[in-house]
Amino acid sequence: MFTPKTISLIQATVPVLQQHGEAITTHFYQLMFREHPEVKAFFNEAHQASGTQARALAGAVLAYAAHIDRLDELAGALPRIIQKHAALGVLPEHYPIVGACLLRAIREVLGEAATDEIIAAWGEAYQALADLLIAAEEEVYAANAARTGGWRGTRDFRIARRQPESDLITSFYLEPVDGRPLLDFVPGQYLTLVLHIEGEEVRRNYSLSDAPGKPWYRISVKREDGGLVSSWLHGQAQPGTVLRVQAPCGEFRLDAAANDGQRPLVLATGGVGITPAMSMLEAAAPTGRPIRFIHAARHGGVHAFRARVDALARQHGNVEVLYVYDQPRPQDQPHATGLLTQELLARQLPADRDVDVYFLGPKPFMQAVYRSGLALGVARERLRYEFFGPLEDLAAA
Ligand SMILES: Cc1cc2nc3c(=O)[nH]c(=O)nc-3n(C[C@H](O)[C@H](O)[C@H](O)COP(=O)(O)OP(=O)(O)OC[C@H]3O[C@@H](n4cnc5c(N)ncnc54)[C@H](O)[C@@H]3O)c2cc1C
Ligand code: HEM
Repeated sequence: MFTPKTISLIQATVPVLQQHGEAITTHFYQLMFREHPEVKAFFNEAHQASGTQARALAGAVLAYAAHIDRLDELAGALPRIIQKHAALGVLPEHYPIVGACLLRAIREVLGEAATDEIIAAWGEAYQALADLLIAAEEEVYAANAARTGGWRGTRDFRIARRQPESDLITSFYLEPVDGRPLLDFVPGQYLTLVLHIEGEEVRRNYSLSDAPGKPWYRISVKREDGGLVSSWLHGQAQPGTVLRVQAPCGEFRLDAAANDGQRPLVLATGGVGITPAMSMLEAAAPTGRPIRFIHAARHGGVHAFRARVDALARQHGNVEVLYVYDQPRPQDQPHATGLLTQELLARQLPADRDVDVYFLGPKPFMQAVYRSGLALGVARERLRYEFFGPLEDLAAA
């Protein structure tokens, strides 16, 4: 696809990018937000501030440069980016903006080392990747629009009901204003809300927390201290409030067909990470599939959905639960206290380790589940996880 010259120029910049990758992407975002405020709404400022988004982009750019002569090896990383872009509504016209700012950032950070030849090679490489993403994202938009209940762009939903699930998490039941059917989704997927708060447009992803096939979408939102959207939802959004919503997307999906739908399933979550697992549990419990539902919370006050999960476990003999609290109150009755350890996890796994483990929670929780799962002999591809933010590297941590 590229000339040998382009390939060697790109490869030659890998060590420099390794050294300056985050500086380039940080500079890139500053440049882009200053000169193209119209794309700012797509990005989450907290992810900028924490550096996770700069690292995710730097990681992608580096991986791309390092694999420029064997791009097929990167194919596995693309679906997540495509789904994330499609969820947020990234469009072809945004790519030249990102491309121009990225090239300028490379030039400005590298200084004289960035020759015209190198910049031209990067321009060519960026365009190829952009073309690929644009085409794949259009496929997602077209498929979503073509399916029953589907749509393109945003659709108006009315909050039908609010339901507190814990001291911190409240569910919002969303029904389409147009009264038409809902697009089906796979448990694990998420919606994107497009809101105007304090005069600014913002976009946020929220996992679907109820089973598919209901006449509503349910999201369950944790109130974050100083959090713009979650505070607005908790404080201002009421039954009747209309929200603009992008169609369900996401690569973190319950594989309901695994071993004829009977492969044991472990759902391990911490804190608000419980939301997609609730959708998975609601969908899988009636199928008879053996399920271990593990949830780690600080204490009973912030443990969401406990009554519902207990009810499902009473109703379906295939569902067993394990609650772990690290700061229990005197009145709490968890099954274990402290953190989720490898020993506790081991007791939830079948002896042959033929199991699907889906997990999500704070990063230390995810690192613990990932490491323990591998140490206990679960195959890497059976350890599936989502991040409530840009992808991070659990293995390297
Ligand atoms: C795929 C996916 C699914 C998700 N599902 C859920 C879900 O089911 N439920 C749920 O509750 N959340 C979910 N999230 C997280 C959600 O999208 C939001 O990130 C979350 O609600 C916080 O948004 P916010 O606007 O309230 O907070 P933000 O305003 O984004 O702030 C978050 C935190 O960062 C701090 N902060 C903000 N800006 C800055 C800054 N400039 N500098 C330093 N600190 C800053 C804030 O004080 C706050 O503590 C999901 C995220 C993803 C990616
Ligand atoms: C070739 C070009 C691009 C590449 C390689 C790229 C790569 C990435 C990667 C790796 C992520 C992190 C995904 C994750 O969380 O796992 C991401 C997220 C994102 N991308 Fe892109 N991207 C490109 C173009 C664009 C464009 C044109 C836009 C439009 C403005 C855009 C907007 C976003 C947004 C908003 C996010 C989520 C940011 C957040 O969480 O705050 N990207 N992209």
